[in-house]
Amino acid sequence: MKINFVAKAPKADTLAVFYTDGAKATAGAKTLDEQAGGALQKAIKASRFEGRVGQVLTVAAPADVDAARICLVGLGKTKDLNGKAAEQSLGHLIKGLLTSGAQHVAVLLEGAETKALAEAELAAHGAMAARLASYRFDKYRTTQKDDQKPSLAQISFVCADAKAASAAWAPMDKIADGVILTRDLVSEPANVLTPPEFAKRAKALEKLGLKVKVLGEKELKKLGMHALLGVGQGSVQESHVAIMEWMGAKDKKAPPVAFIGKGVCFDTGGISLKPADGMWDMIWDMGGAGVVTGLMAALAGRKAKVNAVGLIGLVENMPDGNAQRPGDIVTSMSGQTIEVLNTDAEGRLVMADVLWHAKETYKPSVMIDLATLTGAMLVSLGHDVAGVFSNDDKLAKDLFKAGEEVGDDAWHMPMPEAYDKMIDSKVADMKNIGQGRLAGSITAALFLKRFVGDTTWAHIDIAGTTHRPHTKDPLIPTGASGYGVRLLDRYLADHHEDK
Ligand code: BES
Ligand code: MN
Ligand code: ZN
Repeated sequence: MKINFVAKAPKADTLAVFYTDGAKATAGAKTLDEQAGGALQKAIKASRFEGRVGQVLTVAAPADVDAARICLVGLGKTKDLNGKAAEQSLGHLIKGLLTSGAQHVAVLLEGAETKALAEAELAAHGAMAARLASYRFDKYRTTQKDDQKPSLAQISFVCADAKAASAAWAPMDKIADGVILTRDLVSEPANVLTPPEFAKRAKALEKLGLKVKVLGEKELKKLGMHALLGVGQGSVQESHVAIMEWMGAKDKKAPPVAFIGKGVCFDTGGISLKPADGMWDMIWDMGGAGVVTGLMAALAGRKAKVNAVGLIGLVENMPDGNAQRPGDIVTSMSGQTIEVLNTDAEGRLVMADVLWHAKETYKPSVMIDLATLTGAMLVSLGHDVAGVFSNDDKLAKDLFKAGEEVGDDAWHMPMPEAYDKMIDSKVADMKNIGQGRLAGSITAALFLKRFVGDTTWAHIDIAGTTHRPHTKDPLIPTGASGYGVRLLDRYLADHHEDK
């Protein structure tokens, strides 16, 4: 989609104007209605359009207006208007137009601004909505009819200060790139996005200025990552750890914030095989690695003034003659031993070694991991909210707040010390499962906690949010959501970036 910011309305087949709560016309809407001889007011009277966010009333443009259609877009209550509301409002417009036949929409912002949200900001958030709401993963569809393909190819934001709008949009465009990269990675099937292929795509981000190192099995063995290697040993695909560095702060030597992602490119469960029904969902089990990769791309793209490093553990969990068995005992890189009682609790084994490596190598100021770790997360919070576990209440709060600002909802989950003994083993330092189904997401988080030492750390269980079976949010497609990229980008901007 071509996005531009202009001072004068271009010729376009579709015009969009805004109304606030109570169907109150903004300045741009008033002007257009006058041109249209009052046709807009007439249409509003004959409808239930009230200017609420999510409402879009489309009318045929009268002869005096040089366009085919006019969309009346609800912006909601003026006092509630912020970036998130603006994105929702514009998102509904874009979603409605995407395959409608409309090719070019000119969004007339005049008078749509409020004190809380300047016109340039409104335009930039509108552009974000345009990119995120128009996302589709169509690369494997070869028989789509023309009328199933998107028609909307261009969106022009008409605003008084087009330069200011462009400037506000420039870094956000890079964040959108990151979200879209994450969605693309998460959408790929496991026969395409194998651990080596994922590593290759991470390596390709060097073109953005990231430093990327890819470790193979030989190096991982040398480092002692036997917990991670055990998970991948039943696969014909080589296991990898990819490390992406972005040292953008003034002080390049300052400790970075480290992001660690679970990259299980397919999770069959291994010898503790999952049931056939729904197993296909496990192509998304690399969601954490997908977010970390998208985030690093966003940071490099917008040249964030922050030191950050992303580490992703890439493996495939397969049953095989050489696969890990229930009952095996592995020695993790930390030296702690783990009794593997269920080969389907593989994510924590991968994360244990990558977390330890991140801590030892980078001595990060903060460490945040993302993983599609437990089915129990879906049971507790569903698809719309991720669980945040942390050894630091302030960090959990900061992450929650960042998520709230950008629309990546999260909730602070408890990690009672008393539950820690549930993962004690009779023969090794710990076992990789807790007590049946009790507090499954918490015992998994407590397992990870044994590998972070004193580092300030948070774990985000994105088992539910990585993928959405359906959603009413116009910015989130069915399928890969890209959840987490914007949350972490905002967290860094608010708490770690040089001013
Ligand atoms: N990748 C799964 C968790 C998962 C399940 C993510 C459903 C998204 C949707 C993870 O590796 C897993 O299998 N966890 C087990 C752990 C159990 C064996 C202790 C689970 O949650 O059932
Ligand atoms: Mn599993
Ligand atoms: Zn898994």
